[in-house]
Amino acid sequence: MLSAQERAHVAQVWDLIAGHEAPFGAELLLRLFTVYPSTKAYFKHLGDRPDEVQLLSHGQRVLEAVGVAVRHMDNLRAALSPLAELHAHVLRVDPTNFPLLTQCFQVVLASHLQGEFTVEMQAVWDKFLTGLAVVLTEKYR
Ligand code: HEM
Repeated sequence: MLSAQERAHVAQVWDLIAGHEAPFGAELLLRLFTVYPSTKAYFKHLGDRPDEVQLLSHGQRVLEAVGVAVRHMDNLRAALSPLAELHAHVLRVDPTNFPLLTQCFQVVLASHLQGEFTVEMQAVWDKFLTGLAVVLTEKYR
C-alpha cells in the first residue's frame, strides 16, 4: 500500500505523537463530536457531553490502535482484525464515519505539529489513515 519512503514519513510523524496518545486522542474525539455531532450517537453511554476523563481514556485507546497500525504497516489486516470485527459486527459503526475521523485527525496533527506536518506529510497520513479505515470497514460485507 505505502512505499518505503511513505512508511518512513508515517513513522517520522508518529514519533512526535508517541507517548502523547491520550491528549492527542482526546482532542481528536472532541473535534469529531463537535464538528460531526452525529458521531456522538455511537457514544451515548458516555452521556450527552463526554467529560475529560472519558475523552482521554477512549482517545488513548484509539491512538494506541493507530500506533499498532504504524508498527504493522506491512500487515495491517492481521494486526487490526479484532478491531475490525468489533466495529463491524458489535458496534456497527457506519463506514461513512471513518473518513470523518480521518479528517479530524489530520486537523489535530496540523494544529500541533505545524511546520513539521508538511503538505507531503499530510498527503502520506491521509493515505495511511484511509488504508486503516479500509481495513477497519471491510468486515461489513
Ligand atoms: C472502540 C479504535 C473509528 C466508534 C474502539 C477501540 C479502539 C478503537 C482501539 C477500543 C476497543 C476495545 O475496547 O477493545 C478505532 C480506530 C478508528 C476508529 C483506530 C479509526 C481509525 C471509529 C469511528 C467510530 C468509532 C469512526 C464512530 C464514529 C467506537 C465506539 C467504540 C469504539 C462506539 C466503543 C467505545 C466504548 O467501549 O466505550 N475504537 N476506532 N470508532 N469505537 Fe472506534
